[in-house]
Amino acid sequence: MARPKLKQMQYALFDSLCQAWPKRLGLARDCISNGGSPVEITNLTTGKKINDEKHELALNVLEGLSKRPRGLPSRLFYDDKGSELFTQIMDLEEYYPTNCETEILQKHSPAIAKHLANQEFNLVELGCGDGAKTTILIDSLIAEKAGFKFVPLDISEAAVQFLHKNLQEKYRDIPFPIQGLVAEYFQGLSWLSENASAKNLILFLGSNIGNLNKPMALRFLRHLWYSLNDGDYVLIGFDLKKDLDILYDAYNDKKGVTAEFNYNVLDRINASLDGNFDRSQFQHQGLYNVQTGAMESYLISQKAQTVRLGELDREFHFQPWEAIHMEYSYKYLQTDITDLAESTGFQILDNFKDEKGYFVDSLWQVRKE
Ligand code: TRP
Repeated sequence: MARPKLKQMQYALFDSLCQAWPKRLGLARDCISNGGSPVEITNLTTGKKINDEKHELALNVLEGLSKRPRGLPSRLFYDDKGSELFTQIMDLEEYYPTNCETEILQKHSPAIAKHLANQEFNLVELGCGDGAKTTILIDSLIAEKAGFKFVPLDISEAAVQFLHKNLQEKYRDIPFPIQGLVAEYFQGLSWLSENASAKNLILFLGSNIGNLNKPMALRFLRHLWYSLNDGDYVLIGFDLKKDLDILYDAYNDKKGVTAEFNYNVLDRINASLDGNFDRSQFQHQGLYNVQTGAMESYLISQKAQTVRLGELDREFHFQPWEAIHMEYSYKYLQTDITDLAESTGFQILDNFKDEKGYFVDSLWQVRKE
């Protein structure tokens, strides 16, 4: 997901190269030399048409702006600009989750690697990012002489290519095989269980699971359990409940990057649906909801205004101080994590926390009868 601006040209080049390669049976199997082991990328989404994406966006926006209270789906954040803004958020002093998780992996990767010593497995990363955190774990796995294949799985082919490039920069001869997968998470996991018999360690890092409410988190974990085999491992990042001022600052940073990240969704809607949202007439606010335990992001209309989306042939009338909900980020108690694992068929092997106790990477194992 991390795609700094300077890399955009490389993305464009990668994308056009990928399109030029022949596609067989709807699957693109692209081989690129990585100076040692070859990387194979299997794209399960190549049948998707660009038009489908536009229609889906239009429908999501129509639905989100028509319902009351209004709310837009959080996946709209992550276009190229949004992904770049998110890397800036991760670098902010106030955004503690990245530092906490880096600290956790630096300290506890050897312990995680010990669980997997002496066995062959796939290291699967859901939503592959730039690899900065993952390589900390990978280094410990190499030190433990673990025999693993790295499987970065992302919906964006450019993100998988970008990660591969970063790995090439870090390891001159990449000392482990890589199988990039471009797919939706569960599409990728089903493909993996049909095509690879080794054990799996699934990484779901950052506060990704925090974007799901309780029923969605349960559903996600049951789906994960169902896609995996008895004895497979998962390492999931959970952001813990903490001092409200720390939470507030992390989602209302001084430089305004988080606000920009939210306004970018309005820009994206304007650009793709011929809209006239005036971002200066909306106020960004991140708030903690004590009842639900989530940080919630909003864009609030500062006056009565009408927004027209040409592509939908529709106007949306905002009243003064009417809000558009943008994102939930649920914060956890340790007992919430135990309950989630137990009710979805996982056994907790270890909870790895940072020194301040802000964040936990929880290592679970699939239990089937
Ligand atoms: N969803 C991530 C989180 O909860 C990323 C994020 C950080 C975010 N700040 C945000 C998403 C503001 C939407 C709005 O930490």
